[in-house]
Amino acid sequence: MSGLRIAPSLLSADFARLGEEVTAVIEAGADLIHFDVMDNHYVPNLTVGPLVCQAIRTYATVPIDVHLMVKPVDALIPMFANAGASIISFHPEASEHIDRTLQLIRSHGVKAGLVLNPATPLNVLDHVLEQLDLVLLMSVNPGFGGQRFIESVLPKIEAVRRRIDASGREIWLEVDGGVNADNADRVAAAGADTLVAGSAVFTGGRYADSIRTLRERALAGGAQISAHESSHA
Ligand code: DX5
Ligand code: ZN
Repeated sequence: MSGLRIAPSLLSADFARLGEEVTAVIEAGADLIHFDVMDNHYVPNLTVGPLVCQAIRTYATVPIDVHLMVKPVDALIPMFANAGASIISFHPEASEHIDRTLQLIRSHGVKAGLVLNPATPLNVLDHVLEQLDLVLLMSVNPGFGGQRFIESVLPKIEAVRRRIDASGREIWLEVDGGVNADNADRVAAAGADTLVAGSAVFTGGRYADSIRTLRERALAGGAQISAHESSHA
């Protein structure tokens, strides 16, 4: 495992104090800021747009990881690129032309990610892996924080890990939804290198403790996979 990143999702932050919350989670050890954009069309919830991304960018001294749950998607990409996004991910079901959307993201010098829902088949990756910087696997159905982790996503993480390794490209494998201290080891052992956590970070208010625990649990899981690989070397 080349690295392990913890990406707190602002969906569970105090939206009345968003700048302070961004600063607090970065001081607590966040590697990325995960920014969930929902449109009440692709998903049944409504959150924030490019103006809010722009507003937090001066607080975000780590990359802003924008997760677009919107349809259609293309018009928002230049807006988020200009608002300070470092990574933009979208759902293939939300784009009529996935290749074009990926090109659009990359043309703005932003890293591109594709998001797979729990029931989205892996073949959507078939012809686009070369254009991806990140695969985001949903371990809940998108739309809300605080949902229960869907266990059947674990073998899917393993399958995507094998595809990424076979590609030889450096593509991050991020998992989003219901990740917590009880499953972070299994999520990392399955091959994830980037863990989104909303409620697991923000609930309880002890951000540094929560992030440290998630990282320790994930690294323990990642160590299992490294040991497994070296025993088969
Ligand atoms: C769900 C969002 C997630 C969510 C994660 O649609 O994409 O990023 O905020 O929240 P938790 O970690 O509470 O499941
Ligand atoms: Zn998300």
